[in-house]
Amino acid sequence: MEKPDSGFPAAWSRFMVWVDARFPATETFEYHMSKYYAPKNFNFWYYFGILATFVLVMQFLTGIWLAMSYVPSGEGAFASVEYIMRDVEFGWLLRYLHSTGASAFFIIVYLHMFRGLMYGSYREPRELLWLIGMVIFVVLMAEGFFGYVLPWGNMAYWGAQVIVSLVGAIPLVGPDLMEWFRGDFLMSGITLNRFFALHVVALPLVLVMLVFVHIVALHHVGSNNPDGVEIKKHKNADGIPEDGIPFHPYYTIGHDLPAIVGFLIVFCAVVFYFPEGGGYFLEMPNFEQANPLKTPDHIAPVWYYTPFYAMLRAATYPLLGVDAKFWGLVVMAAAIVIPAVLPWLDKSPVKSIRYKGLPSRLMLGLFVISFFVLGYLGTVAPSPRATALAQVCTLVYFAYFVLMPWYTRAEKTKPEPERIIQR
Ligand code: HEM
Repeated sequence: MEKPDSGFPAAWSRFMVWVDARFPATETFEYHMSKYYAPKNFNFWYYFGILATFVLVMQFLTGIWLAMSYVPSGEGAFASVEYIMRDVEFGWLLRYLHSTGASAFFIIVYLHMFRGLMYGSYREPRELLWLIGMVIFVVLMAEGFFGYVLPWGNMAYWGAQVIVSLVGAIPLVGPDLMEWFRGDFLMSGITLNRFFALHVVALPLVLVMLVFVHIVALHHVGSNNPDGVEIKKHKNADGIPEDGIPFHPYYTIGHDLPAIVGFLIVFCAVVFYFPEGGGYFLEMPNFEQANPLKTPDHIAPVWYYTPFYAMLRAATYPLLGVDAKFWGLVVMAAAIVIPAVLPWLDKSPVKSIRYKGLPSRLMLGLFVISFFVLGYLGTVAPSPRATALAQVCTLVYFAYFVLMPWYTRAEKTKPEPERIIQR
């Protein structure tokens, strides 16, 4: 005999009927989770989207709690961070989670973007998804920069001084623009205050909205995959992609949850045993208060900006009567935004690197090597040899993009499969 409809499940069903009549809760859950069909061949490289989302939430939570004890003023900032580290209950943990979280975020986002390069995830119909990702990336860089200055350590102060002074190199309007940006004649508590407002209110708001539209765009076009096959092309009689599986519960439980657990094991090991990351996650000069009269021996930004910083310094020649510093700014800005045009540079008949030819593989390999070498060069003091190497790596970095229309057209590719190949 059938059990009568009673108890919690029935009450829950009745509650959901009530909610669904007023808000599309079940419909939204089904559209984005249980009836979102994702390709069945996701691999390691598909961990990083969910990890980026996870770290974003973690940064919000730890950031909100840090803001409860942080004092955004030139006089109080440094001391308030010391206070958080020593006196606030678990303040040290909140701060290390947030500072290590920033580095983790960039590692994850770089790997997430690299996956896109490998599997051609920027190609039609995902151009807009990629462009939204690029805007996220630029906003994330600004968010990281403003946050890095907040503890008012000496390296952060001077690093920000270098970056802000770049604005001053823009011909004609530069000096006025720089003063407007700083809100003062030099980096001061006023600058710190506006950086605080941008870091804790404006940019997080923008980031959340961007990540929301990123996911909406993704679920509209559907996920790419390591074979670059469009699973929507092969649907069964019920309209379900034959090479897809419901995102929930298969990917939520079987793929993303283990990824988060694995990430947390590594992340906590760093937070508890290695929070300074050998001076890369928290730099030694930042344990000293900002001092406008004492420049650190060698100014370098935090590691996740160093590839772009190295490119900035690689521009050493004045051109058209304009200072080399300005051209450095142009090269750096171009290096950051050039991936945005990838959807229109890649002319290959196939999406994934699995089916592309040797030139594509070689260029991607050289691109990665140049990115790492530039990352290293950005951390060391400039020397003629380091500058020459940075110039070569900058050329390689840009060659990957600029030559792409040519080498993706000219190379011999393998035929892309019609259906997903289960390996
Ligand atoms: C806060 C930062 C970001 C978050 C939270 C985020 C989140 C996600 C999530 C959850 C997915 C689906 C899962 C996956 O495919 O791994 C995804 C896919 C994707 N993201 Fe992001 N993302 C971020 C930044 C970026 C950036 C900077 C780019 C590139 C410029 C980007 C480009 C893409 C692309 C192309 C896909 C689809 C990939 C495919 O289907 O193969 N994302 N993102």
